[in-house]
Amino acid sequence: MTDSDFPGSKLASALSQPVSVTWQSPSNIALVKYWGKTGRQLPVNPSLSMTLSNAITVTKLTALPRETEGPVELDFWFEGNQNEAFGARMSKFLVSINDIFPWLTQVRLKLETHNTFPHSAGIASSASAFSALALCLCSLDNEFFNIVLDESEFRSKASYIARLGSGSACRSLFPGFTVWGKTKSLPGSSDLLAVPVSEVHPVFTTLNDTILIVNKKEKPVSSSEGHNRMVGHSFTEARIKQAGINTGELLDALKTGNKQKFISIVENEAFTLHALMMTSADGFMLMEPETVRIITRVQQLRKETGLNICFTLDAGPNVHLLYFEDEIEQVNKLIVEDLLKNNEQNLRINDLYGTGPIKIN
Ligand code: PMV
Repeated sequence: MTDSDFPGSKLASALSQPVSVTWQSPSNIALVKYWGKTGRQLPVNPSLSMTLSNAITVTKLTALPRETEGPVELDFWFEGNQNEAFGARMSKFLVSINDIFPWLTQVRLKLETHNTFPHSAGIASSASAFSALALCLCSLDNEFFNIVLDESEFRSKASYIARLGSGSACRSLFPGFTVWGKTKSLPGSSDLLAVPVSEVHPVFTTLNDTILIVNKKEKPVSSSEGHNRMVGHSFTEARIKQAGINTGELLDALKTGNKQKFISIVENEAFTLHALMMTSADGFMLMEPETVRIITRVQQLRKETGLNICFTLDAGPNVHLLYFEDEIEQVNKLIVEDLLKNNEQNLRINDLYGTGPIKIN
């Protein structure tokens, strides 16, 4: 798939009545991290993620009749309220993809969206939000122009569109594990869209991800700013090489069911992401003292108990604790009695391996 696969069409005549479509789409957690971009939202290195199950955005997009063509017109609602900041980001995205969907300036748009996870709980919602919106746009496009795509072509197109909104969003379109970014370890992989990983040992479909909340506040440096700070980073070449190797090794661990290898790559990637932040020219740190305490404790507990637990970090201070279904009881005990002992409210969000977006009729 290339940019020229989307020539885009205009509506032959104005809409006579509103047309709505609703999709729910999950967030995902990167295991090999995308950090640094180039061109039209292309990754500088391959990444590999697990689609989640509970952190979901539900989006209803309505195209309404409009008499004359003009700039993109968006009426944006988040959790039942108009939200200027989110609306502005969504509008900017829609304007930026007008070349792909020229009809966007021939209709009025109403976007109603809500998340099934608490707002400001330290979960990145851009992956679920942009993947849900991309699916809605592709569904409307199909309906307007009678485009017939099979399931895989449709998801790939939505992945391509989601990427233009938020890079990591392109990985949310598929169940389970997904790779975004060209890598020789996975034939068919691409910088333009994500592809599902098909060879996965059943043990990895039992993965749980409990997010231990260290701080719910908005982070001081956004992901987009973080990507910018990778430009000219002195570790760039080594990082690209490392991400390629880690992607290949992780694919192999997923295929063979190798938990030890999985754990060592996942933690190496989390440490690398934060090391890249700290060592950029304008260095910054998103980990907090409590983040460091928890991740150190996870490593100790793994040694002491032999449990297959490990952590990963997103671009923020909260810790994603990864573990397998067969050890869920022991791990939950450790979470409450040990890992969250400094967290008075025991704040955490339980999530797990997910099966991907669903269209809601
Ligand atoms: O998709 P963005 O631009 O929000 O960047 C996401 C970056 C990380 O979450 C840190 C890593 C990743 O691969 O998801």
